[in-house]
Amino acid sequence: MKGIVLAGGSGTRLHPLTHAVSKQILPVYNKPMIYYPLSVLMLGGIREILVISTPDHLELFRVLLGDGSRLGINIDYAEQPTANGIAEAFFIGEKHIGDDAVALVLGDNIFHGPDMSSILRGNMRNIDGCTLFGAAVKDPERYGVGEVDAAGNLLSIEEKPKRPRSNLAITGLYLYSNDVVEIARDVQPSQRGEREITDVNKVYLEMGRARFVDLGSGVTWIDTGTHDSLFEAGEYVRVLERSQGVRIACLEEIAFRSGFIDAETCFGLGLDMGGSNYGQYLMEISSE
Ligand code: TTP
Repeated sequence: MKGIVLAGGSGTRLHPLTHAVSKQILPVYNKPMIYYPLSVLMLGGIREILVISTPDHLELFRVLLGDGSRLGINIDYAEQPTANGIAEAFFIGEKHIGDDAVALVLGDNIFHGPDMSSILRGNMRNIDGCTLFGAAVKDPERYGVGEVDAAGNLLSIEEKPKRPRSNLAITGLYLYSNDVVEIARDVQPSQRGEREITDVNKVYLEMGRARFVDLGSGVTWIDTGTHDSLFEAGEYVRVLERSQGVRIACLEEIAFRSGFIDAETCFGLGLDMGGSNYGQYLMEISSE
């Protein structure tokens, strides 16, 4: 399976923070935001990843992540000239996807929890259609909401419903079989001028090929698109890392524990950042 991190957009809700820099490069406590969605793909075992961003910002991600080889993965880059919608990711990424299935994660979404890796790996097998992931929220009327039957089939998708049929918000993590490229191409821009991911998902829903997986209480989901949620995400990461002594979305650690890089390489990456707690942590875990 191939992976795509969609890290463009305009970030208008975060102005003035995003006037000069990409939203997905902003810090979430001690790491750039894009580390978090990237960590999700890596936890799923995906090693071929495309980062899509705006022409102005793509270079920042290249400087930050390079070709991925230091993490034992491959990272390619592609431009989305204007924020014309999430569904564009599939035809921008057509060459990268090739004949494979694809996981798309939005660059401003954070997922964390002990169950994340197993949920991902379990659902990546034999994809035929789309698999969406739901997280329980207290204000579902602010989100896209999914309704599911006992077998995990998606029954309906409603955008910001006045009377939500469930409390499960549709998160920014999606798995698709290869025909998503074709389906996304046929989706026409909506009234707001975007090729909507919801329209792609509705095609699968109509075909009876849409699944909806509740991430459950073992996973925390945070969409960092507003000042408050960005701040809360940083707080969340800080509290957990300090109280539990773990690192969230530590890409080098995930690469090491997944067998993408060896202990020596992990130690070397730590040494390069040895002046920070982050670098110290990498040196410690690689010597365990
Ligand atoms: P949004 O939060 O919907 O949009 P945005 O990031 O432009 O922010 P705002 O609403 O404040 O203007 O986007 C969700 C994620 O998807 C975010 O990481 C940006 C990304 N995205 C793209 O890369 N291209 C797009 O065309 C769209 C719509 C979103």
